[in-house]
Amino acid sequence: MTYAKILGTGSYLPAKTLSNDDLAKIVDTSDEWITTRTGIKNRHIAADDEKCSDLAATAARRALEAAGVEAAEIDLIIVATSTPDMLFPATATIVQKKLGIAGCPAFDVQAVCAGFMYAITTANAYIKSGLAKKALVIGADVFSRIMDWTDRSTCVLFGDGAGAVVLGASEEPGILHSKLQADGNYRHLLQTPGQIANGEITGVPFLQMDGPGVFKFAVKALAKVAEEVIAEAGMTPEQIDWLVPHQANYRILESTAKHLKLSMDKVVLTVQEHGNTSAASIPLALDSGVRSGSIKRGHTLLLEGIGGGFAWGAVLVKY
Ligand code: ACO
Repeated sequence: MTYAKILGTGSYLPAKTLSNDDLAKIVDTSDEWITTRTGIKNRHIAADDEKCSDLAATAARRALEAAGVEAAEIDLIIVATSTPDMLFPATATIVQKKLGIAGCPAFDVQAVCAGFMYAITTANAYIKSGLAKKALVIGADVFSRIMDWTDRSTCVLFGDGAGAVVLGASEEPGILHSKLQADGNYRHLLQTPGQIANGEITGVPFLQMDGPGVFKFAVKALAKVAEEVIAEAGMTPEQIDWLVPHQANYRILESTAKHLKLSMDKVVLTVQEHGNTSAASIPLALDSGVRSGSIKRGHTLLLEGIGGGFAWGAVLVKY
């Protein structure tokens, strides 16, 4: 049986940071409000000349180095993003060029904060079916570009970043099971409705969110998909060594851990350092867990995430 195994991880956060106190100088908020409601303390903001593909390419190079894989060996590139460099071409092709390679398929997937779950599941299917042997899967977003910096209910929550994994075909267990779901009936809870038409931006080009609505939906959907992916793999929550959740909000990820009866010391937690980095948040957390030495070879990981659409999913991995 062929598995897709994680050969290496990498990540990148822009140098510029914005603390809660910095934000309190821009909008009517406080460190106390943001910390209690979300657990976020800090976020990173891309420089004016830093594009989504720059963040993605740096995270990708770090993952390739960690995997001991040359860029030329990669035969599939998938970038999960909802803040691409441009409408087209796909950011994945721009990353491909930045890595100095050509020829392999390269495309983007867009499932907002669930993007990395969709991208890694797609790459897993390519590897299991023999269509690819070594895949680069990247989550990268620059949400600072779609923030309304006068809206305190959203601008305190998000930051920029990128994370990447190199997946390789292996006889050893890697990705064990995956489950993706979506329900377009809930689109109104979280969207950036603006678009370019006839040379003009029509509609609001900033992120809009019904915070309490998102919270309620996310807590329920994540608990269910996490429970189901574990059960469908014939496993139990006690067998999970690390929960690697989408880092949107401390209270949401704590609620998933509680539902699975996992103690918080089994949860990789990075939300305090960079806020919600959308598609980048799960691979950023994964890379942090791996580089800190917490996540070790042989550990069973549960990755899970949810975002606009709504779209959500969970992936069970033997690291
Ligand atoms: N600072 C101070 N006060 C604020 C701020 C702020 N940054 N933002 C909103 N408020 C005020 C509101 O105006 C409101 O004031 P009012 O009572 O005078 O009207 C009050 O705080 C409460 O507002 P709520 O929106 O009801 O606050 P809530 O307790 O629900 O917390 C939050 C808001 C943190 C956004 C919460 O709803 C949440 O975490 N939702 C999930 C959002 C999320 O994670 N989105 C990410 C994208 S989707 C995903 O990745 C899962």
